[in-house]
Amino acid sequence: MKKRTRVTHPPAVAVPPDNRPLVAPIYKSVKFSFDDVGETLGYFGGRRAGYYYSREANPTLRQLELSLAELQGRDACLLTGSGIAAISATMIALLRQGDHVVYFAESYPPTRALIRKLLARYGVEATQLSIEDHAGLEGTLVARPTRLIVFESPTNPVLKVADLARITALAKAHGALTLLDNTLAGLHNHGQYEVDLYAHSLTKFASGHGDVMGGAVIGRRDLVESLRDDFTLLGPTLDPDAAYLIQRGLRTYFVRWERQCENAQRVAEFLAGHPAVSRVRYPGLRDDPGHALAGEQMDGCGAVVCFDLEAGTEAGSRFAESLELFSIAASLGSTESLVVPPAMQQPRGFTPEQLAWSAIGPGTVRLSVGIEDLDDLVDDLRQALALL
Ligand SMILES: Cc1ncc(COP(=O)(O)O)c(C=O)c1O
Repeated sequence: MKKRTRVTHPPAVAVPPDNRPLVAPIYKSVKFSFDDVGETLGYFGGRRAGYYYSREANPTLRQLELSLAELQGRDACLLTGSGIAAISATMIALLRQGDHVVYFAESYPPTRALIRKLLARYGVEATQLSIEDHAGLEGTLVARPTRLIVFESPTNPVLKVADLARITALAKAHGALTLLDNTLAGLHNHGQYEVDLYAHSLTKFASGHGDVMGGAVIGRRDLVESLRDDFTLLGPTLDPDAAYLIQRGLRTYFVRWERQCENAQRVAEFLAGHPAVSRVRYPGLRDDPGHALAGEQMDGCGAVVCFDLEAGTEAGSRFAESLELFSIAASLGSTESLVVPPAMQQPRGFTPEQLAWSAIGPGTVRLSVGIEDLDDLVDDLRQALALL
């Protein structure tokens, strides 16, 4: 082999089967080759295992898919380059023109925009309710054949806890599928309910360090496999480097989750006792409307704390700017603490009724609590509140 050829065909290095690396390598190869056409066709026909093209499947992604499915208590998973890609590709794959979707005013705004604006362009119809309105949900399901219910628990940003047993029972009784965005609850929660598909932004708790984006849809094998061809056509797949970072983040998932829940609980308790704060939403607080339900449904209430400043929107901006340890930034669930002031999360395009459902007021602040020393976090909040 001449050197010009060698540089494009480097020597293969095999690792003996009894000599395992403790960290799996990153399979960066886009293509995987079989030695003959028959085997390749056998792979295409599903008659043999293997890989062919990384947009469709890749061993590094496969390891992460298996880890996430097991954490969520299901047997199949598809990965995407962001959380919103998991939600959009799943809805596009499941829905047809004329289908009806139920979604909720309390949900992550881009998910609502996807349904209300993008899917509407393709003839998908939708009804928006409050996540607390079980009678409204039942009435809607009775009145209209519904293909899909898209919901969150706890909701972002106000942390309402959805009644999973009730919502999934209604969905089953009326033949609707459920897609639960489980991002704020983490990967280990809610597997005991009859949810059809779980979506996650892996950008948040799974990776945990704010340096990689990813998404996943998780469910039982037949349903997830029915999405695979459309995912391959839409092409939202995760890059193997990103999959590797998320898999590495998972090693500390429970340590981070437990520490963040502990810090968030104490931060919520501190805020609840502060005179400048008119309301705190955190399901771990005894008097939170979702406390009992969260106790039944969840192991840990997560890192997001939502509260209202009596002094309103402008004071909320001053408060956020006065914080030293909480950065004004999007996202949540990472090791560092973040704040979203009221001015950055006022809902748009809501009717007064929907605005009331959203429970976002002029002074609503969202915190994502990290793993820093709790005393430092509380001192920082105290000094910023004292300046109001
Ligand atoms: C509840 C929820 N779902 C989905 C997403 C979207 O995730 P990503 O930013 O990875 O696309 C977010 C992001 O903030 C979120 O909070």
